[in-house]
Amino acid sequence: MVALVTGGAGGIGGAIATALAGRGHRVAVADVDPVGLARKADEFGALPVEMDVRDEAAVREGVAKTVAELGPIDVLVHAAGVVGGVGPLLALPVAALDAAYAVNVRGTFLLTRVVGEAMITARRGGAMVHISSAGSFQPTVGLGHYEATKAAMNALVRSAALELAPHGIRVNAVAPGPVETPLTAAALADPAARAPWVERIPLGRLATTDDLVPAVLLLTSLEARHVTGTVLPIDGGQLLRSV
Ligand SMILES: NC(=O)c1ccc[n+]([C@@H]2O[C@H](COP(=O)([O-])OP(=O)(O)OC[C@H]3O[C@@H](n4cnc5c(N)ncnc54)[C@H](O)[C@@H]3O)[C@@H](O)[C@H]2O)c1
Repeated sequence: MVALVTGGAGGIGGAIATALAGRGHRVAVADVDPVGLARKADEFGALPVEMDVRDEAAVREGVAKTVAELGPIDVLVHAAGVVGGVGPLLALPVAALDAAYAVNVRGTFLLTRVVGEAMITARRGGAMVHISSAGSFQPTVGLGHYEATKAAMNALVRSAALELAPHGIRVNAVAPGPVETPLTAAALADPAARAPWVERIPLGRLATTDDLVPAVLLLTSLEARHVTGTVLPIDGGQLLRSV
């Protein structure tokens, strides 16, 4: 089986890429971070694919490189994502929304199209798992622009699941609450800033990437063969709270 993991140099994508390799997949990691890509190549022989998910030509080249070097893609995990900035909607620079939109929405759209086309051509079916966010369902002050992009991602997941189902391609997402990764390291480093995040979580702790990997592996696998169009929260119960 061949898997392409975007954001594969990052915290969540990197952990998923390593786990897929551990399950015997041939794994391509795609990212804009060449140093992180080289690290994953050294770690387990991942195929490094420099790809900016905002750029259609780069996505096409990266998918073509993966197919040429590893074979038809069975699994896409799309973990590339950015927050773009933090601030209330009335004060946040519009550039923050544009940055989050370009990676989180346009990137998801392009990956879905290009990998979807490749999977249809290969006639082997497939599974896509996108990394959304619990914020797509529940607001946090200062993150409204980012949450809007993740809600758009959920909508793309549902449409893609419907349109690709006749080809045996399943499309799902997971919606994590806060996870300790490089993306959140600065925000969570200060104990005073960290406490309110933890207090929102009924299970009483922030997630690590180890909390996400098993659910993502399940959605990529044939054990989830009748599951499509879902957005699965992995949030320690945070969504049970109203905000
Ligand atoms: N960490 C969290 O608390 C958390 C919670 C919910 C959802 N998420 C989502 O999980 C995903 C992964 O986040 P993470 O915490 O691992 O962050 P991360 O910053 O560790 O990893 C993100 C990766 O995406 C890459 N990337 C950024 N822009 C890109 C682009 N244009 N093209 C290709 N790659 C690009 C980065 O280089 C990085 O390696 C993101 O979509 C994020 O929104 C994270």
